[in-house]
Amino acid sequence: MLTMAAFRRNLSLSAVARHGDYEWEDPKSEADVVNITYILRDGAIKNVRGKVGDNVMYLAHRYDVELEGACEASLACSTCHVYVDEKFLDKLEEPKEEEEDMLDMAPVLRPNSRLSCQIILKPELDGLIVTLPRITRNFYVDGHVPEPH
Ligand code: FES
Repeated sequence: MLTMAAFRRNLSLSAVARHGDYEWEDPKSEADVVNITYILRDGAIKNVRGKVGDNVMYLAHRYDVELEGACEASLACSTCHVYVDEKFLDKLEEPKEEEEDMLDMAPVLRPNSRLSCQIILKPELDGLIVTLPRITRNFYVDGHVPEPH
């Protein structure tokens, strides 16, 4: 039987495999810079200099933006839910089925909802604006465990 600790460890390993090329480094050049604005839950604005390849959720964590990430980018929660400015929606990769499944469980879902852990910065996303929803739901706290895919 899988213990909760082992379950969480498996989730972390999946996250590493999925985002193993994510680096905690400053941009190597100005061409690598991708500016992003986070609109916080209280309406405050936080501008951040990211870089090509940065994961929008982990970048938020790096700059103390209160964006959760309960499953560490394993597509097993919706706590990293954000609203993406409509200008950028068609510049994002199409959401995977697993992302859509998790978004279905997010409170206050909108047409521009995405999971920030699935957004990887690229040059076309320079100026990206993401807004944090007022509430998120953590399945683990609520006692819900998502079905495997
Ligand atoms: S952190 Fe769980 S899906 Fe993004």
